[in-house]
Amino acid sequence: MGAAIEARAVRKHYRGAERPALDGFDLRVEAGTVCALLGRNGAGKTTAVRILTTLLDFDDGAATVAGHDVRSGGDGVRRAIGLVGQNAAVDEILGGRANLVLFGRLRGLSKTAARDRAAELITRFGLDNAAGRAVGTYSGGMRRRLDLAASLVVPPSVLFVDEPTTGLDPDARREVWATVRRLVDDGVTVLLTTQYLEEADELADHVAMLRDGRVVLEGSPAELTSLVGDTRVEATFGSPADAAAAARVARPHAVGPVHVTGASVAVPVADAAAVTRLCAALAGAGVAPVDLAVRRPTLDDVFTHVNTEGAR
Ligand SMILES: Nc1ncnc2c1ncn2[C@@H]1O[C@H](COP(=O)(O)OP(=O)(O)OP(=O)(O)O)[C@@H](O)[C@H]1O
Ligand SMILES: [Mg+2]
Repeated sequence: MGAAIEARAVRKHYRGAERPALDGFDLRVEAGTVCALLGRNGAGKTTAVRILTTLLDFDDGAATVAGHDVRSGGDGVRRAIGLVGQNAAVDEILGGRANLVLFGRLRGLSKTAARDRAAELITRFGLDNAAGRAVGTYSGGMRRRLDLAASLVVPPSVLFVDEPTTGLDPDARREVWATVRRLVDDGVTVLLTTQYLEEADELADHVAMLRDGRVVLEGSPAELTSLVGDTRVEATFGSPADAAAAARVARPHAVGPVHVTGASVAVPVADAAAVTRLCAALAGAGVAPVDLAVRRPTLDDVFTHVNTEGAR
């Protein structure tokens, strides 16, 4: 399969801005995969999405989406894509079903076809009980599901989702993740932006980390997290003496130096099996932790890595 999205050396400098929002932005997303564009506020994620969805012109470089040049083939791009923007595009006063019918009509469906498609999507996204209610009364998770449904009224081959779960609680977040996974099972290529490494880890085949308008690090989630270090077990004990004893017990299970800070011990481990063995060893030695957490690398850790190790 070829690339569904390809951007080469894209540059965008907003009028009056101090520095470019995109500055040599390169990206390749294979058809049928999920790519997560990760970056902090202002990194350029929304700018990239707006350029690739033809909403925004750019100064330099080139990009194709679904085989169409975003500049010269804008109509082709727009026919092939769906977009869920960072700010919801749905009408607050209309109900969920009426919104979907409206989207269908805007995309050229007949009245009957728009109604049928709306009914199908309302059921598929679990919104039956709220279909007639004004969207202004929906919870964040319901709104995000409606946003996704609206982008699928005419099935796209490439879907762009700008920050699918920002501001959602963990349950709603998981619902959105499941929805995105189902789309990918149907063969849709997805580009999503996120500030959460966890989200990228859950959903993406490929993660591109954006900083100051360019991709500074990319790879599979496993490749990225392994770059910034190991999973750590962080345990707190009743006293510093217990912690010191625990550190001695932990050492054979660690894949790097064991750190003791007061009554706390941090142990880098290889995998989940090592966590189990470590806990068993501590229990066997009679030093039970009063608190225990398993910590995986976070987006901040990756950024720290990028900043300290330097990047391309
Ligand atoms: N219309 C605009 N005019 C001027 N500058 C802009 C405009 N839109 C965005 N910018 C600037 O471009 C840079 C990239 O913004 P962008 O919205 O693409 O970032 P983002 O990664 O989506 O951030 P967030 O996580 O906050 O959504 C920022 O410095 C921003 O201030
Ligand atoms: Mg944004």
